[in-house]
Amino acid sequence: MIILGIDTSCDDTSAGVVEGGRHVLSNVVQSQVKLHHPHGGVVPELASREHLKNLMPVVREALSRAKVRMADLNGIAVTVGPGLVGSLLVGLYYAKGLAYVHDIPLAAINHLEGHILSIFLEDAPPFPFVALTVSGGHTSLYHVKGYGQYTQMGQTLDDAAGEAFDKVSRILGLGYPGGSAIENASLDGLNDRIKFPRAYLSSESLDFSFSGLKTAVSLFVKKWRNNQAEGDDVTVSDIAASFQEAVIDVLVRKVMMAREKAGGSSIVVAGGVACNKRLRARLGETASVEDVEIYYPRPAYCTDNGAMIATAGYHRLSSGERADLSADVRSKFPIQDLPSI
Ligand code: KG4
Ligand code: ZN
Repeated sequence: MIILGIDTSCDDTSAGVVEGGRHVLSNVVQSQVKLHHPHGGVVPELASREHLKNLMPVVREALSRAKVRMADLNGIAVTVGPGLVGSLLVGLYYAKGLAYVHDIPLAAINHLEGHILSIFLEDAPPFPFVALTVSGGHTSLYHVKGYGQYTQMGQTLDDAAGEAFDKVSRILGLGYPGGSAIENASLDGLNDRIKFPRAYLSSESLDFSFSGLKTAVSLFVKKWRNNQAEGDDVTVSDIAASFQEAVIDVLVRKVMMAREKAGGSSIVVAGGVACNKRLRARLGETASVEDVEIYYPRPAYCTDNGAMIATAGYHRLSSGERADLSADVRSKFPIQDLPSI
């Protein structure tokens, strides 16, 4: 079964072709970073217009690299939420058009399910596992018992971890996207130089909160710029590294707590922030002490991509699920609203 997956949920226009839910024939991503860079974040109106321009060439390129024609496709899978409404609409209506004209089954995909299943593009963790999806829009923990069987264990109550990276990067003048900028700046910094707060919420909670941390960094930077902060030799790198460590401390603690609560399974970490090497190193250290298997997709499958949507589509279409021309987008689309498969 060969599926074309399309994702236009945020600022990347992406299309991928995947065979059998696992074998990636192509994965093409057209980034909009340069367009949004001067604004320090994604501008929704610009993003949707750019998707309109880029989507057709990106899909053509994905089919061409995969060496398949439309007639070879057994399904088209497209993200319908969560995400930016204008951006999602471009992907959904393009996919509907393709599916209708070429008479190909269509699957409406939840972006978060795509991130959870992205690991299957190159590995095969045994069910059940705990998944931490950590990106610019989401920070959530799931107990994954099978394809389409997800129980949310925790989520962010305010900012997503990637959003905090992006905002702190802007505060520090390190640019957009913030995750890699903070990670790079941190390499020259001391991660225990500034004691930024860690929001564990309570000893039991698997929810996250990163907005207080972002405010703490912002207040510190104001004082620091006015030379009122303690330690006049603090550098931008020290602030970046101390912030990054505060986020990672919380992510590591909570994913391990979730694992324990779920009865000690393996762990899958996905989404853009899963590219962070310090996060991987810290998780690796903890995992080796506790003898836990941790799976990460390669960076190209951590950030938004069409291949992961094709994988989710493979499982949904295989179960008989179909979307029709009445399918609509959902800016908010909690994973618990998904039918199980
Ligand atoms: O999954 P993704 O591509 O899009 C969303 O669904 O949000 O994730 C993008 C997010 C951005 O906030 C970006 O700053 C963050 O992932 N990110 C990182 C790193 N690379 C990307 N955060 C921390 N460290 C990184 N190396
Ligand atoms: Zn994403």
